[in-house]
Amino acid sequence: MQFAPRRQAIIVLDFGSQYSRLITRRVRECHVYSELVPASATLAQLQANPHLDIKGFILSGGPASVYDEHAPFCDPAILHSGLPILGICYGMQLLAQQLGGHVAPASGRREYGPATLSLLFDPETDRQFYRIFEGINEVRGFPVWMSHGDSVDRLPEGFRVLACTESNPIAAIGSARGIIGLQFHPEVTHTPQGKDIIRNFLFRICGCEGNWTTQSAIEEAVEQIRRRVGSQRVICGLSGGVDSAVAALLVHRAVGDQLTCIFVDTGLLRAGEPEQVVETFTRHLHIPLVAVDARRRFLAHLQGVIDPEQKRKIIGEEFIRVFEEQASLLAEKDGPIPFLAQGTLYPDVIESTSHDTASTAVRIKTHHNVGGLPEDMQLKLVEPLRLLFKDEVREIGLALGLPEDWVWRHPFPGPGLAIRIIGAVNEARLETLRAADAIVIEEIRRAGIYRELGQAFAVLTPVQSVGVMGDGRTYANLVAIRAVTTGDFMTADWARLSPDLLARISHRIVNEVPAINRVVYDITSKPPATIEWE
Ligand code: XMP
Repeated sequence: MQFAPRRQAIIVLDFGSQYSRLITRRVRECHVYSELVPASATLAQLQANPHLDIKGFILSGGPASVYDEHAPFCDPAILHSGLPILGICYGMQLLAQQLGGHVAPASGRREYGPATLSLLFDPETDRQFYRIFEGINEVRGFPVWMSHGDSVDRLPEGFRVLACTESNPIAAIGSARGIIGLQFHPEVTHTPQGKDIIRNFLFRICGCEGNWTTQSAIEEAVEQIRRRVGSQRVICGLSGGVDSAVAALLVHRAVGDQLTCIFVDTGLLRAGEPEQVVETFTRHLHIPLVAVDARRRFLAHLQGVIDPEQKRKIIGEEFIRVFEEQASLLAEKDGPIPFLAQGTLYPDVIESTSHDTASTAVRIKTHHNVGGLPEDMQLKLVEPLRLLFKDEVREIGLALGLPEDWVWRHPFPGPGLAIRIIGAVNEARLETLRAADAIVIEEIRRAGIYRELGQAFAVLTPVQSVGVMGDGRTYANLVAIRAVTTGDFMTADWARLSPDLLARISHRIVNEVPAINRVVYDITSKPPATIEWE
């Protein structure tokens, strides 16, 4: 019997903090594998995973108070497991309370924002307690980020106070056997030495080795794909985005030409994209690819449709139809294809299984991701990116030879340009939008700010306005430019593009794109607007 290698891991228990996912990421940045799990996870459940060699736990912050009636708590077996534990904010209060200490509202001592930490112990005599702060340069002052209304006011047995702030006498606690509580947030950049603290926890206290690298992530994914797929065939739908491309690259590395990729040209992609997909996969990466020209079909179905949700529905259904036709043609030709590879990421997995309000939220728009195919296709899923974050996927993409501009491309909605043309979609309007959009992207790249932006694009409106060109009157289309900064795409701010850059974009569009005579810039944040206009 063959066993998969066990991977050293730090488990982050999620008590609902907005920073929980960030903690996982900080750990991974130190080359230690980390997983975020719901607060209710038990030690037995976690240790049942044969792939993980758990080296320690981090208890995240969270909005509750530990003395609330329904406050989430931690499986006591975790606290008594003997493994190192780092409790952050709510996590510190929880472990203090569950281990016999006491927490109370910090009356008059609530702290939100920056604070300065003072270490309270003697590194010479308290070495065992000191490990979490080793190498930290206190002389420069020790700025930390606080966000709490409760405080620990009595320690559990065996614990010491390690640090305080001006308004909080118990800002960090620790036990000799590696249970640490921090009232501040080491994971945010506002705690400049936070990374060193996390590193100390991982390497000095948990004894991690730090060998989780892009290369090991690739090897592990390849090994798992091989085990799952064996000698059978796999198909993968390419969208032009980074996730599906990296999933395909990993599967190809694992099982070679047992993989066939399908790329559906919907006619709704940006300038040059279909060509780049075909060129990169067939010529550059030598991965078998079936490219389907379905532009006419999509346009025919979209004719006269102006309702955004209707557009999404039509495009989603048509995509599935084309994909299924191609999959059965391939199966007829060379035998059955039992597996479908998809580029599902870790955040997608968390979001679809999370205990938050997503399922009860009002539907703003249906996010149909072209490439997300229905389960009744009866294909078994291969999802090699399920445990990875976007930045890790990008690194793997680069390591596997995906071109840099593909790896860093802004996200693009499944329904494509159809939801950036307000009103009816036709070939002429697509041509106009593509030309304007290409100018926006080109100028933003030239200004060197492409990667700073979450998304940037042009929107073709149904508004026509009067202009003058030379001596003549024009009556032509209005194009809007949208550029946003965002971390998670759930909220976004409009980007403060420089007036000079906006001027260049506007000047080029009205001069180079015949159907446009006016350009406006969208200065609305999300919420209340959304990023896309439809
Ligand atoms: P909104 O417009 O909702 O967009 O603020 C948030 C992010 O989602 C993308 N988006 C989509 N992606 N299918 C997709 O695959 C869709 O139907 C869709 N609609 C919006 C949008 O580009 C942004 O990144």
